[in-house]
Amino acid sequence: MVNTKTVPQSVQWNETSIKLLDQTKLPLETVFIDLFTIEDVWKSIVSLKVRGAPAIGITAAFGLALSAKSYEETNLEEFKEKLRKDKEHLASSRPTAVNLIWALNRLVTSIQDSTSVNEAKTTLTHEAIRIQAEDEAVCRQIGEHALELFKDGFKVLTICNAGSIATARYGTALAPFHLAAQQGKNLKVYASETRPVLQGARLTTWELLQSGVDVTLITDNMAAHTIIEKGIDAIIVGADRITANGDTANKIGTFNLAILAKTLGIPFYVAAPLSTFDMSLESGEEIPIEERNPEEITHLHGVRIAPEGVQVYNPAFDVTPNDLITAIITEKGILQGDLEVEIKNLFE
Ligand code: MRU
Repeated sequence: MVNTKTVPQSVQWNETSIKLLDQTKLPLETVFIDLFTIEDVWKSIVSLKVRGAPAIGITAAFGLALSAKSYEETNLEEFKEKLRKDKEHLASSRPTAVNLIWALNRLVTSIQDSTSVNEAKTTLTHEAIRIQAEDEAVCRQIGEHALELFKDGFKVLTICNAGSIATARYGTALAPFHLAAQQGKNLKVYASETRPVLQGARLTTWELLQSGVDVTLITDNMAAHTIIEKGIDAIIVGADRITANGDTANKIGTFNLAILAKTLGIPFYVAAPLSTFDMSLESGEEIPIEERNPEEITHLHGVRIAPEGVQVYNPAFDVTPNDLITAIITEKGILQGDLEVEIKNLFE
């Protein structure tokens, strides 16, 4: 179990509001905010107050259930129409992580057989709670499978934050480290700071320190040197969307690490739940890549570091082709070899 005193659950359902850990304030402040409306939820997702594919999906699910509670419609068809519009609105908050639309679709599907508006409102809430509970169980299983790959004393590099606060609990790529700390297994983590928003420096290091994990911070451009000099044994990352052939979108810079892993002869692992797979897309070329505000690059904590007027390109994600991925670690086990075939078998 992740120590909830030191690593709080980032999304908490309060029946009339959502209590959200404001990840933009970490690591300096551990602040929770209350979301009361669909607009509060939408803005929190867009502004990265909540981040990480599973946590975004969980927040959106609670947001949709919360919004539906306030509908005054008494006609079920009108209720469903309003729900559909709110779903579209929430789905527009971030384009790359598929868990967002996956969770929203689950909510809409859950009320297919509802016979009254009141029943539908209750069902939506229950489904959102179930999504969060399932994600916790799934992340624990991912952590257990990933631990099988890491021998005692391994040094492992990661990027972004695919940790407990990016999910219901435990995380995906960070789950093995939380579990190892509980079990007394010694793993040493190198966390890439993850420009431009520094999720690695701000969130991963904070979260792992809270759990008593041995973690060392590096800047993104130190990865190749660090792999050689420190003898990194493996790289593990999370995912925002995995297509049917195993191509994987994750935080910008992940693709660089996969190339390094191949060149330097170490395994490159992706850890993700089945909710991150998008079987409607054949390959990574079809994944929409979010481009974010140039200020994330031209400014650091509100202070300008690049000249006024400079052109900026700020993609938030990149796609790692399947041939650079050693294995994908899911709650159902470890996929390796021909990823396209393995994924097909998994979903059949
Ligand atoms: O833009 P972010 O911070 O939401 O991106 C997060 C990532 O890329 C994570 O690695 C991914 O969502 C997996 S979180 C378990």
